[in-house]
Amino acid sequence: MKITSTFSIFVAILTFVTSRKTGNKDNGKHLSLGGSKGCPSTLPSGPLVADNHSLQELYQAALAEGGKLILQTLQDFDRWKAQGVLHPYKPIGWDQVYPEFKDPDGYSTGVHIWAFSNNINRDLLGNNENNWPTEASDYLDPKFKGKIISTYPNDDDAVLFMYKLIIDKYGWNWLAKFVKNRPVFVRSTQVPADSLRNGTFPASFTTAGPLRPEVTRPVQFVLPQSDPFVTWAQRAAILKGTRRLAAAKLYLSWWLDVDTQNDWFQWSVRKDVPVPKGFKSVFEYPGQTDPVAFEKFMADRTALEIFKNQVQLYVGEVQGILPTGDLSILQDKMLPAAFA
Ligand SMILES: *[C@@H]1O[C@H](CO)[C@@H](O)[C@H](O)[C@H]1NC(C)=O
Ligand SMILES: *[C@@H]1O[C@H](CO)[C@@H](O)[C@H](O)[C@H]1NC(C)=O
Repeated sequence: MKITSTFSIFVAILTFVTSRKTGNKDNGKHLSLGGSKGCPSTLPSGPLVADNHSLQELYQAALAEGGKLILQTLQDFDRWKAQGVLHPYKPIGWDQVYPEFKDPDGYSTGVHIWAFSNNINRDLLGNNENNWPTEASDYLDPKFKGKIISTYPNDDDAVLFMYKLIIDKYGWNWLAKFVKNRPVFVRSTQVPADSLRNGTFPASFTTAGPLRPEVTRPVQFVLPQSDPFVTWAQRAAILKGTRRLAAAKLYLSWWLDVDTQNDWFQWSVRKDVPVPKGFKSVFEYPGQTDPVAFEKFMADRTALEIFKNQVQLYVGEVQGILPTGDLSILQDKMLPAAFA
């Protein structure tokens, strides 16, 4: 499973919806899910309850729209809510989502949990876990000199937060020593994942990995015994005024579907979906991870930028090309892949 899986699945759905648009004569006109005529100007009145249509009904309505959907999976959801630019919607299964991961009024909902921690190439480091770096101090061991691949913490806020948790615990001295061990810094969290899989590097602590060991070889995702790791629920929302409201609803409801949640490679946001074997609930790692802490870190931009600049003094300025393309914050178009 790639870091970009969310995006790929999004594109897959979008492609499917688009490709079927002309093939369905009985295109679900009997359904009224709001916005299926392309102009959803009215918002639900009264208390919002979780959607009680079936996925199949949403699917038919989305086909009738025949088009693209609009979705954002960024931070800033509370600000957008306050600005009135989100369309409230409680997807099917919303009641089962942990309260920590959803807006109580249905303006945004966490759809899956990400965790960044240790990833180990077993072919390179062997099967004896004692030889794997899992704690922050392990990464200072001279035997890993030049062998650790890390995303630039000053280029990715989730990775920056990982560094923050370690530095909060061990001080700046840890970072000074880590940099002396000559880790290789790269852009994106996908490059470390790919580099571990193809055997170029044996270990990284700045990317995600599947919780089910049977699908991980040769790379094993492993949590530290006592040191911190980063988790958060990725949120999704529907922009008010989207022309493809039913498709957007389908997309969010599909994400919360039990099967989708079971297929997700890390933790589910749903209370009724079992935690993969060998792991505890994401709320049961006190002192190691707090799945709502990252959101708070992200919200204080001033503190974040100050910390980022301090880190940059140690790791240097970001260099290299972003593999997904770099359109800067002034981008006025989506990446070409989004329309493939
Ligand atoms: C779905 O919810 C609406 C109100 O939101 C209600 O009128 C309708 O009866 C519900 N349908 C089912 C099948 O529960
Ligand atoms: C391994 O993956 C990295 C990251 O995508 C890439 O830069 C490198 O060329 C790959 N190496 C091999 C041997 O495939």
